[in-house]
Amino acid sequence: MAATGSEKQGAKAYYVSTPIYYVNDAPHLGHAYTTVAGDVLTRWHRQRGEKVWFLTGTDEHGQKIMRTAEANGVTPQAWADKLVTESWKPLWEHLDIANDDFIRTTQKRHTDRVQEFVQDLYDKGEIYKGGYEGPYCVGCEEYKLPGELLDGEGEHAGQKLCPIHKKPVEILKEENYFFKLSEYGEKLLAHYEANPGFIQPESARNEVVNFVRQGLQDLSISRSTFDWGVPVPWDDQHVIYVWVDALLNYATAVGYNENPEKFDSTFPADVHLVGKDILRFHAIIWPAMLMAQGLPLPGRIAANGWLMVGGEKMSKSNLTGIKPQDLTSHFGVDAYRWYFLRAIAFGQDGSFSWEDFSARYTSELANDYGNLASRVAAMVGKYFGGELPASTADGDAEKAVHDGLAKAVAEADRRIGDELDFQGGILAVFDFVKQVNGYITEQEPWKVAKDASDEGRARLATILYTAAESLRAVAVLLNPVMPDTSRKLWDSLGAEDSLGALADQRVQEAGAWGLLPAGTKVTKGAVLFPRLEEKPTA
Ligand code: ME8
Ligand code: MG
Repeated sequence: MAATGSEKQGAKAYYVSTPIYYVNDAPHLGHAYTTVAGDVLTRWHRQRGEKVWFLTGTDEHGQKIMRTAEANGVTPQAWADKLVTESWKPLWEHLDIANDDFIRTTQKRHTDRVQEFVQDLYDKGEIYKGGYEGPYCVGCEEYKLPGELLDGEGEHAGQKLCPIHKKPVEILKEENYFFKLSEYGEKLLAHYEANPGFIQPESARNEVVNFVRQGLQDLSISRSTFDWGVPVPWDDQHVIYVWVDALLNYATAVGYNENPEKFDSTFPADVHLVGKDILRFHAIIWPAMLMAQGLPLPGRIAANGWLMVGGEKMSKSNLTGIKPQDLTSHFGVDAYRWYFLRAIAFGQDGSFSWEDFSARYTSELANDYGNLASRVAAMVGKYFGGELPASTADGDAEKAVHDGLAKAVAEADRRIGDELDFQGGILAVFDFVKQVNGYITEQEPWKVAKDASDEGRARLATILYTAAESLRAVAVLLNPVMPDTSRKLWDSLGAEDSLGALADQRVQEAGAWGLLPAGTKVTKGAVLFPRLEEKPTA
């Protein structure tokens, strides 16, 4: 997206990241959930006029990717290239994700910097050689603590299972390099204490605090039994542990040790968006790595809950058969972007069902929002030849709408922009849409239209101006969530000619009343939310 004039020059960018996803398989609804949340958050901040940096990418090293590639008879690099170009990048483009960069951990800009970072820690005495034996989950790419394993049943009877992947762990015994993570427990706890918003939501914060309080073990940061990774610079028999490699993407992608100007104006991230499964890596290991290197810590680690289908966490190993594209082809991309953030409180687990999506689409998008837009455009067309009339007879009913808008703007800006409460912010806007619908129902412009007196005409003009000006603000407020719909509405209101580009409208100023000038050409544009076809049968 283009930079805008009111952007603060020289200021640090508002930097948001998604996890970099494993390329062992194609993206599913869960990955798209986190990525859409990041896109909405950064679009919101861009629309505040801030400088923004939104990063996503792919995690391409480690045993999991190596085994998948072997099973498919290709090299890990060829496998990663194929998945990135055929699955991951196309999905983000399809979902209108406006990421500023896409980092791949096999890129030289990343691997060189990873080696430098780890060498630096080694030189500082933060890394030593030692032995370790323990249960390892390849799905998580993580050593597990014996106490957190599940007892297998049925085909896995007698085996110990990973609590996340429900698959047997492997006992690994290796001579590895270790990072002195155990020395950072107190410093981490002090940081959590001093920064209550560092880990979001509260339940995630509590989980991390309790875990760290139990005492941290040193972290094995190299592997010598396979070679698909970044070589340890001082010992080429080892590759760097995939999680150390992966976490560093947040630094290497923004110019760590390469472009100081870029790095200083971007790093650290304001928000690392993650799922609950990878919370500890981000809230414990990553900050400890940064502390060891004397680098600043991120502002917030925000964990989203699980997207569930039929009571199970949606995952690659538990494929439900529903791809993001199956939903977008039925509901459209904008409704898809809106639905998961609207239906699920961010940070909580939430279930997805086709029926729930259909019901909300029809009542909230098509009936409440879409109808309001088409009715208002139709009436301005019918009663005023498509030219927006001036509002000259404002009374209490109009004042209530102005106040409702100011409240919706303040609430949406705080909830989405500051608190990452996407559901609360979207609801604030849709409550306002309901209020405007109620206002029209009460004012009955179709009856007022029968009164041809000056007074009647002034009343009718005021009602339609009030509704159209409300829609102007709604288009701005929903632009980060549903950019294509907002653009259609902006066109229909003729707002581009009078107010300029939608991207240049400031969300925090959207509540000012009377911005859309009288005389603007209003046209009946495209239907915002067409009626749904029958649900396709599988
Ligand atoms: O863990 N509900 O990658 P990954 C909600 N490469 N979110 C979900 C989800 C679900 N059912 N399933 C996946 C990795 N996600 C590492 C990350 S970062 C330095 C390295 C989302 O492909 C959620 O954000 O397994 C989760 O944390 C992420 O996808 C895991 O993606
Ligand atoms: Mg995973």
